[in-house]
Amino acid sequence: MEHANQILELETHSSENFWDKHAIVSLLGSDNVIGVGIFNKDQLVGFAISFVEYEKATIQILNIVVHPDYRRKYIGTKLLNKIANINKNIAIVAAIRESNKLGQIFLSKNKFKATGVSREFFKDEWVSGTETEDAYIFVLER
Ligand SMILES: CC(C)(COP(=O)(O)OP(=O)(O)OC[C@H]1O[C@@H](n2cnc3c(N)ncnc32)[C@H](O)[C@@H]1OP(=O)(O)O)[C@@H](O)C(=O)NCCC(=O)NCCS
Repeated sequence: MEHANQILELETHSSENFWDKHAIVSLLGSDNVIGVGIFNKDQLVGFAISFVEYEKATIQILNIVVHPDYRRKYIGTKLLNKIANINKNIAIVAAIRESNKLGQIFLSKNKFKATGVSREFFKDEWVSGTETEDAYIFVLER
């Protein structure tokens, strides 16, 4: 996957997930995973990776990251809108670290509402370099 290295680089600016290159390539090759990106010329300045759970009629946002030099320019909002527009009849859900207050503000500003807590959500082996932590579950209101 030609953009895996740029995703990997951007990932270092996120506390949510730290996938390795193999995981990124395998995720993006999966039928149920949809990745969206925003570029400035050839540079990937923001991406979102989501997982479609057809049986639950849900799209789960796995990670969304904007390069620090490009923040507060509504790139994150555009990425959320791209995901929301994939299917307007499907629920959009994001699990976010309890400690990620700025991410929670960002989601709240984009019409997401906190609906619950998932204990120790961030503990999977494939999320390396991060600490076990509860997640707030945010759902897009529409
Ligand atoms: C969270 C993140 C994706 C936001 O991307 P962004 O492109 O800067 O966000 P936007 O410009 O679309 O912000 C939309 C609104 O969210 C709120 N917001 C976003 N970042 C904020 C911040 N650092 N502090 C306060 N409010 C913030 C603001 O209300 C903003 O609107 P405003 O600028 O008119 O006040 C980005 O900061 C990031 O990559 N963070 C690290 C990764 C992360 O935490 N990901 C999980 C997010 S669910």
